Amino acid sequence: MKKSVPLSLVRRAPPHLRQELECVLISRTQLHRRVRELAQQIERDFAGRDLVVVSLLSGTIMFIADLLRSLNLPLRLDFIGVSSYGGGTVSRELTFTKELRLDVRDRDVLLVDDILDTGKTLTAVIARIQKLRPRQIKTCVLLDKRARRVANVQADYAGFDIPDLFVVGYGLDYAERYRNLPFVGVLRPEMYGK
Ligand code: PRP
Repeated sequence: MKKSVPLSLVRRAPPHLRQELECVLISRTQLHRRVRELAQQIERDFAGRDLVVVSLLSGTIMFIADLLRSLNLPLRLDFIGVSSYGGGTVSRELTFTKELRLDVRDRDVLLVDDILDTGKTLTAVIARIQKLRPRQIKTCVLLDKRARRVANVQADYAGFDIPDLFVVGYGLDYAERYRNLPFVGVLRPEMYGK
């Protein structure tokens, strides 16, 4: 299984965003192509299973919508709300803002997140779902920032390995902004006070 795709060809940000973004790291076309590939892998692996897709709010909004459109499988969809609070980038407190509604006992769960960074979020969510006794939990993330990993967790499906840059767009935010960009861009450090 191809775990992730190397990034080449970094493009300039659109003119109206150049003061805020250093570049486009992953274009709309690259995203759509890779999401379709992930969907094909998932289809093969979960064919015939009783699949519950669990998507983490809010960063997955674009990714999950595109992934679901490409997934030609019977499935059920649910969401977990989880947010991290705290000013720093190292120690953050996780708060669950929405719980699962579907019963996942003895089901196959595909847990979807936008980015795997320190791994604390995915680790906490996996532990929470595990208590509900699913048959198995597999994880799917669009972006994997391995350089920042603290928790011992890796994704079963990962779209792109990315370097340790502050990325926004395609669902990912800075202070709740930029989620609507159709590409993944790199935020200029001066925008977040570095
Ligand atoms: C972001 C992102 C992941 C998590 C990854 O969520 O969506 O869920 O951080 O970081 P970690 O691997 O270091 O735990 P955030 O709490 O910013 O909420 P959001 O999805 O609403 O943007």
